[in-house]
Amino acid sequence: MLRQAARPARGIALLARHASTQPSTRYTAVTHPEDAADVPAEVADFIHQKSKYLLPVYARPPLVMSHGKGMHIYDTQERKYLDFTAGIAVNALGHSDEELAKIMSEQASTLLHSSNVYHNQWAGILAEQLVTLTQKYGGLGWTPGSNDQSGSHSARVFFANSGTEANEGALKVARKVGKERWAKKRFGRLWDMKNPEDALCEKTGIVCFDQGFHGRSMGALSVTSNPKYQKPFGPLIPDVAVGKLNDVSALESLVHDGTCAVIVEPIQGEGGVNAANEEFLRALRKRCNEVGAVLIFDEIQCGLFRTGSMWAHGTLPTDCHPDVITMAKPLANGFPIGAVVIRENVAEVMTAGSHGTTFGGSPLACRLGSHVLGRLAETPFVKQMNESATYLQSRLARLSDFFPTIVGPTRGRGLILGIPFIKDPDGHPAQLVSLARQRGLLLLTAGKDAVRIVPSLNVQKTDIDEAVDVIESCLGLIAKGDF
Ligand SMILES: Cc1ncc(COP(=O)(O)O)c(C=O)c1O
Repeated sequence: MLRQAARPARGIALLARHASTQPSTRYTAVTHPEDAADVPAEVADFIHQKSKYLLPVYARPPLVMSHGKGMHIYDTQERKYLDFTAGIAVNALGHSDEELAKIMSEQASTLLHSSNVYHNQWAGILAEQLVTLTQKYGGLGWTPGSNDQSGSHSARVFFANSGTEANEGALKVARKVGKERWAKKRFGRLWDMKNPEDALCEKTGIVCFDQGFHGRSMGALSVTSNPKYQKPFGPLIPDVAVGKLNDVSALESLVHDGTCAVIVEPIQGEGGVNAANEEFLRALRKRCNEVGAVLIFDEIQCGLFRTGSMWAHGTLPTDCHPDVITMAKPLANGFPIGAVVIRENVAEVMTAGSHGTTFGGSPLACRLGSHVLGRLAETPFVKQMNESATYLQSRLARLSDFFPTIVGPTRGRGLILGIPFIKDPDGHPAQLVSLARQRGLLLLTAGKDAVRIVPSLNVQKTDIDEAVDVIESCLGLIAKGDF
């Protein structure tokens, strides 16, 4: 049953808001209640019964998602939610895209899986697209508009099934580079040791950064320096050093001759929407070159057009670029896929049998990925996305004027944005997410102090107005302590 409280007529409310330049109060009333007394018995029973069989690793609100269309997702009570989470930065083209559904059905009845024992028709196509589009949009050493056919600088792709696995692959490549290439050099006395102790250390060290998130497997978890995630599962892989994002002065000692890999998100997603700055990325690239470490950019959340270009680092000068890019989330719009793009000179250490997967690079995942990537990369799509991002940013920019004691200036770029809380950063972000959801808007928390906004990339102005009106209404309630 649809449970929606009456709302004021939309046009009148919009006019009032713009005329008064006051924050919206249109959405103060709860429209999607979650109190125990309001949850229908059949929903509560379903959750209770079925949760008994699920590992309780997620804290979830008392509703069951059922279907989606475009920017909206519906629960089993047919309540409609405006989805500004996109399944955690996954559904770049929104929910239930018809073209994707058609392709999925067609490929599923043609060839779903054939294993990596054989070539298939789609993995190579998606790999080529990833490399040529990176040349076009910039990244991995290419300036935007490059079309390097010389072969002097190329790249290779490995397909996995998730972000975590993409990072595992990247870290394994870096370890192999460290062990094979640099161990050989050291043996041949080509490795210029600065400290005598370095002669004893293997080149196996990995550097990551505070508040970064790289996944939950043992390797990826080892470089995700959050005690909440790591502590119960130690010992993790050894030889990991944790730095501070944007701390240039610490890089000299943090990244040393024993370092084989440095992994960093150009814009941290889970960690609070914190961007690495250009000066830092340049210094990091330089230091990696000095010590022969492989530089990995985890663009799993911020990449694939979310910042308005293909890669978050793509429009920076090439002396800020990595050796390896990892990606996952939006590549097949929700169908599991991960990928690693590696510069040729690094990729050449990998040989048959040195890494692999059963499912990665399946015809279905790669055909879907090829279709999604093709659409995301179309010039009109990117233009529209950038216009929406600019509009969303302009509306969010007013929040810190409306609520100066509660929130600070918006963080992030494109459509990966964070609202940082000044007041009660431990409580208010989760409060805003909960209040918004009970008014039909889905948001995410991020890191220690923020609410994260990562809608589908085809979000429209009307969706943005509705979402920000809800946010303003909820911040008004928080400001008054009225919830
Ligand atoms: C930046 C980043 N890296 C890695 C991961 C892990 O990806 P997955 O959950 O697909 O394993 C995530 C997931 O949120 C992420 O945001």
